[in-house]
Amino acid sequence: MNYAAWADWYDVVYSTEGSGEVDFYVDLARHSGGPVLEIGVGTGRIAIPTARAGIDIVGVDLSTEMLDVTRKRLEGCRISGKVELIQADMRNLDLKRKFRLVTIPARALLLADNPDDQMATLRSARSHLARGGRLALNVFVPDPHMLADESRSPFFWDEVVNPANGRRCLLWAINRFDTTAQTNDGLQIIEELDERGMVATKVYLDVRLRYVYPPELRLLIERCGLRIVHELGDFSGSPFDEHSPEYVVICRAV
Ligand SMILES: C[S@@+](CC[C@H](N)C(=O)[O-])C[C@H]1O[C@@H](n2cnc3c(N)ncnc32)[C@H](O)[C@@H]1O
Repeated sequence: MNYAAWADWYDVVYSTEGSGEVDFYVDLARHSGGPVLEIGVGTGRIAIPTARAGIDIVGVDLSTEMLDVTRKRLEGCRISGKVELIQADMRNLDLKRKFRLVTIPARALLLADNPDDQMATLRSARSHLARGGRLALNVFVPDPHMLADESRSPFFWDEVVNPANGRRCLLWAINRFDTTAQTNDGLQIIEELDERGMVATKVYLDVRLRYVYPPELRLLIERCGLRIVHELGDFSGSPFDEHSPEYVVICRAV
């Protein structure tokens, strides 16, 4: 994936987020008392509000560009001392420190695009848990209708406002699922509109991920020396069931 391109547009795509994800992770951080390790910290969407809630947080990311966005946001901020940013690979993380809470928000586990790398990421997370500490993460639940759709034309999925300049943006996507490998080599397309409603900028962002079904994720988690203590179906605390769009899990080390 080209994270350099993503860094400029990540917050536009995620400005649609109305699911309560940020509040969910900030609340967990607050209850843990910190320190928190966020794996795949991105542009600081969750790390910055976590620090504002008074919790020390270490954010790890592979992408220089994503980390640069977060660094820039923190410049001159009162809370900048509460956020430490480290460039590292979630598949072989060794910070030689332990955390009360480790998080892998925003489906970032799926960016490890094969089962071995997903397990390596979970093992990395486990090895950074303090005694009694918890790991929280979320993934989407694969939708059979979405997987069956083989059309190669973009579908419209949302209209948002670019928080940086107030311009309307249309969000489109193309999915290219491989249902054997459980991967999606997808494309996100952003059309930013000018004052007349004409497309002023068009951006193509690739995304490769490996989706997992909840039963498989349970097994991966167990194989990595973790035990699930809570399963939720969204970020507002609904129980996980067959209608849940999201699989949110909280684990402890065995
Ligand atoms: C979906 S974003 C999530 C960002 C942030 N946690 C949030 O909720 O907004 C996933 C992040 O994972 C990072 N990432 C992808 N592969 C990685 C790897 N192998 N190691 C560390 N970070 C990685 C990407 O650079 C990206 O910033």
